[in-house]
Amino acid sequence: MGLIAIIGGTGVCDLKLLDHIHDGYMDTFYGTIHYVKGAYKGKDIVFLPRHGKTHSIPPHLINYRANILGLKRLGVTAILATTAVGSLNPDYKPNEFVLPDQFLDFTKLRHTSFFDGGENGVVHVDMTSPYCQTLRKTITDAGTLLENYDIHPTGTYVCTEGPRFETPAEIKMFEKLGGDLVGMTNVPEVCLAREAEICYATVSMITNFAAGISPTPLTHSEVLECMAQNSQRLRALIMKTIEI
Ligand code: HPA
Repeated sequence: MGLIAIIGGTGVCDLKLLDHIHDGYMDTFYGTIHYVKGAYKGKDIVFLPRHGKTHSIPPHLINYRANILGLKRLGVTAILATTAVGSLNPDYKPNEFVLPDQFLDFTKLRHTSFFDGGENGVVHVDMTSPYCQTLRKTITDAGTLLENYDIHPTGTYVCTEGPRFETPAEIKMFEKLGGDLVGMTNVPEVCLAREAEICYATVSMITNFAAGISPTPLTHSEVLECMAQNSQRLRALIMKTIEI
């Protein structure tokens, strides 16, 4: 698969499992990215915490273009991302993993493309299968090699602008449109990876039922708590995926 990058979402600011770690910086046209380079079982890995080392960058202010272009410049050919999500689907429950295969884009204020005209031109990339099938299959295989990993193999990820959570009315609308999961970061990350011709997949960890489905109002700390409880399992899945 070439050089693999892990983009860690909420609750995955540090991979902890890499050897020979060093910090790196890469300048791009869109800004500078900070990443960590290390190795796992002899394979070079790049780790990029999406929200910064201390979770200080909110979803709507992440420099998605710099992140993806920076990884491309480093020679990354595959990105395995993690995302914390709420569930709209009664069959998809908190503490479970999902491998999204489709998305619905409800972001509003983000730079979603490298192709803004000018030097880069006007390009329309195909989004029939937005997530890399090969990497999704490898993650599924990794799950079967670990004990008690029930991974939902498909799901439609609804990406909202955030940083606020959704209203119950929005969640009802997303359900009607076919959404299964709701999160704030997968778009434009997945689209930019496609434009950069990098194989991209995300493991979504369900931290809560979405607003109006959950019996209580949502809090960021409940998301963090659920991620903390499951971080070992998530890390094990990522590392097994890299290994095989
Ligand atoms: N909505 C949006 N993003 C999220 C949620 C949610 O319910 N849970 C975790 N990330």
